[in-house]
Amino acid sequence: MVGIFGDPVDHSLSPRMHNAAFAELGLDFVYVPLRPKMRRIKDAVQAVKRLGLAGVNVTVPFKHAVIPHLDSLSPTARAVGAVNTIYFDAGKLIGDNTDAPGFVAALSWNGFRPRGKRVLVIGAGGSARAVVFGLLGAKAADVVVCNRTPSKATRLAKDLSKQGRRVTGAPLDILDDFDFLASRQLVVNCTSVGLSGNSFLDYDIDSTPADCVHFDLAYRETATPFLALAQSVRRPTIDGRHMLVHQGALSFKSFTGRRAPVETMARAIGIKPPK
Ligand code: ATR
Repeated sequence: MVGIFGDPVDHSLSPRMHNAAFAELGLDFVYVPLRPKMRRIKDAVQAVKRLGLAGVNVTVPFKHAVIPHLDSLSPTARAVGAVNTIYFDAGKLIGDNTDAPGFVAALSWNGFRPRGKRVLVIGAGGSARAVVFGLLGAKAADVVVCNRTPSKATRLAKDLSKQGRRVTGAPLDILDDFDFLASRQLVVNCTSVGLSGNSFLDYDIDSTPADCVHFDLAYRETATPFLALAQSVRRPTIDGRHMLVHQGALSFKSFTGRRAPVETMARAIGIKPPK
C-alpha cells in the first residue's frame, strides 16, 4: 500500500494516476488518499513504518511538517526545504522532493530544455522554490523570481544562489517591464492568483517573444487565468498536470523500484502525451 497525505485530499488526482500505473504493470499495489490531523502528523509518519506502507506522497499542508519525523532527507528535499515523497531505504524513512526534477522532466517532455534559458518565475512560495531549484540544476542561464512580497523573492534567490547560478529577486512591477519580458524564454506561474475567478495579475504578456513558453503549476477543469491569457496571445502553454505526472513518476520509481509508465499516468488524469 502507498498513499498521499493531504488535507484536503479528496480532490487529489494522484490515486487515479498511480493506480492506473499499477494496473498497467500488473503490480499488487494500491494507492489511497489519507487525511492525517496536523497535530498527529508524527503518528501518521510512524504509521508508514508500522503498517508497512511502501511509501507516501505528501502534499499541502504537510510538506514541511513531516520533516522532523523522518530518518533522513535527500539533498533535493534539504535544499528545497520540503518533502513530497517518503519512501523506505534499508529500513529507514527517507524524505525526498520529486517536484523539482518532476518540473524539469515536464519541460523536457514538452520539448523545452532549460539549459542556457532565461526564465521568469512568478511567486516565491514553496512550489516556486522547487521550480527554481530544478531550473538551476538543469543549468538555466538566468532565473528572475518576482513576488508580491519582494523580500520573499530576494530571500529565495539568496538561499538558492548557493548553487553558483544566476537567480535574482524582483517586485511584481517587473511584469510591466517591456525590455525584460522581451528577453524571457519561459514564464512559470507559481501563485494561485485568480484561480477562483478569471483574472490574472497585470502582466504585459505581449512583450514576451512569440515562442515564450508559459507554464502554470496550477490546473483546473478550464484553463487557469494565467494560461487563458497566454492562449489569447498564442503563446505555447503547459498546465500543472504535466508536473503532477512527472513528480508522480519519480515517486513511483521510489515506491516500486520500477520505471513508471508515464503515458498511462498522463492519460489517467486526462492529458495527452505531447507530440
Ligand atoms: P505554494 O506552496 O503553492 O507555493 P505558498 O507558499 O502559499 O504556496 O505561496 C503562494 C504564492 O502566491 C506566494 O508567492 C504569494 O505571494 P506572497 O509571498 O506575497 O504572499 C503568491 N500570491 C498569492 N495570492 C496572491 C495575489 N493575490 N497576488 C499576488 N501574489 C499572490
